[in-house]
Amino acid sequence: MLYLKNLAYHPPATPTPILEGINLELAPQQLGLVIGGSGSGKTTLLEILTGLAEKTSGELFWRNQELIPMQLQQIGGLVFQFPERHFCGSTVLEELRFGHPELKTQQVTEALEEVGLEQISFNTPPHALSGGQQRRLALAVQLIRQPNLLMLDEPTAGLDWSMRRQLVKLLAKLKAHWTLLIVTHDAAELLKIADRCWLIKHGALESVDPDTLKRERAQSVT
Ligand SMILES: Nc1ncnc2c1ncn2[C@@H]1O[C@H](COP(=O)(O)OP(=O)(O)O)[C@@H](O)[C@H]1O
Ligand SMILES: [Mg+2]
Repeated sequence: MLYLKNLAYHPPATPTPILEGINLELAPQQLGLVIGGSGSGKTTLLEILTGLAEKTSGELFWRNQELIPMQLQQIGGLVFQFPERHFCGSTVLEELRFGHPELKTQQVTEALEEVGLEQISFNTPPHALSGGQQRRLALAVQLIRQPNLLMLDEPTAGLDWSMRRQLVKLLAKLKAHWTLLIVTHDAAELLKIADRCWLIKHGALESVDPDTLKRERAQSVT
């Protein structure tokens, strides 16, 4: 269970807080979706949850234990926006083992299977993969480290319709084993698989029922 209470982030250099009064609860094996426009604070929220930035105030608990940034780096796995831009291995194997040379072939195989990439060769250069495959590889890079909380920043950005559909299907499957928190400006397909949902505006979070939001969106289309 992830639990945020009245969390705020206000770096000294900014006139107003970037995040304020954030309350959020996410149970295991649930998929939480935070929806908001550009500059609303989505990436900053993930940076705090992965220990890359430190909250100014408020409480942050994982399973009833308050965590410091170093512990957050251990429990969380973050797939950045456009993760393929951060690939640094010259092969799929190198990418998956980066910083973890102790990982066994069996673990590499399992991680690739988990994201539906079992057919690709360990020696394939990451940049030779298709856009959809690259996103899957970036997911495998996090999953192989067995994070307790898997976070994704704009996972569908820059993908075409068919690749988005495949990725959403994969994320729905991963929910059986992992707790996921996804932030996006474009909720369309992701809303269908969300258990919890929040809107974020100017750094403030508002909880909404995913089903209500789905109905509203369906009505506004027709
Ligand atoms: N380290 C920082 N220092 C100052 N302002 C920042 C910093 N990081 C982000 N911001 C500002 O915080 C706001 C939220 O940014 P961000 O979390 O990247 O939004 P989103 O991911 O929703 O587009 C923006 O106005 C951005 O300019
Ligand atoms: Mg962002």
